[in-house]
Amino acid sequence: MKIAAFNGSPRGRKSNTGIMVTEFLTGAEEAGAETEHVFLSEKKIGNCLGCFKCWINTPGKCVIQDDMTELLGQVINSDLIIMATPLYVDGVTGIMKNFMDRFIPLIDPHFEKDEDGEYRHVKRFPKYPKIMIISNCGMPGQEHFQAIKLHFRRMARNTHSEVVAEIYLDCGEMLKNQIPILRPAITKYKKNLQKAGFEIATTGEISQKVSEKLAKPLLPASIFVREANKYWDRELGKLSN
Ligand SMILES: Cc1cc2nc3c(=O)[nH]c(=O)nc-3n(C[C@H](O)[C@H](O)[C@H](O)COP(=O)(O)O)c2cc1C
Repeated sequence: MKIAAFNGSPRGRKSNTGIMVTEFLTGAEEAGAETEHVFLSEKKIGNCLGCFKCWINTPGKCVIQDDMTELLGQVINSDLIIMATPLYVDGVTGIMKNFMDRFIPLIDPHFEKDEDGEYRHVKRFPKYPKIMIISNCGMPGQEHFQAIKLHFRRMARNTHSEVVAEIYLDCGEMLKNQIPILRPAITKYKKNLQKAGFEIATTGEISQKVSEKLAKPLLPASIFVREANKYWDRELGKLSN
């Protein structure tokens, strides 16, 4: 199985998203998958110009000469793409959105009705990669991922694909926390990410058992909020001293 993970965090290699993707891919590699972790922040990705030249003048090819030519090749040649992004304003980061907008050369402009009676554009390629989502956010609570979940489902539908797996971690900033009492929970979480990667590469999905473990925060929300607010007080206190 060929898996390409596209990491849309502006923090790149220092991101929580990066930690999640790295552990997940380690497990997938153990199961024999061929993987790649692409840091979109290191790539040159211009914003879509909305000119539709990729549909009319040069079908399937964007007029912008940047890293998207290579990245779209990687997308279409993968069995599974991982859209990995921290939650920004309840959605994806700007980097990830630019990347997603540039997918339009992959589809043909003609309209069609799908099996549910909804309209979309026609396929340009016989096969599209399946989609997986990895995301983390700052707030406690899985409800913060509602909009992103729906967005990726709609995007998958529009690109003749489907979301086959998703991992969402709230209180995501805890993943890099060095407090000793958090270490066992972080180690366990990373092991479960590896298990999920192994499962995807062997069965094409993540078991309910592992999914449920990965949806649990690293510490209870009330403790997180108490400690996080103390942290902000300390940081802001440094400014006034
Ligand atoms: C501009 C901006 C917007 C954000 N919006 C949200 C948000 O809507 N909800 C939330 O829970 N966290 C939000 N966060 C917090 C990030 O999701 C959080 O810091 C995350 O752990 C960053 O992950 P990364 O290290 O992978 O980039 C936001 C952060 C920034 C900088």
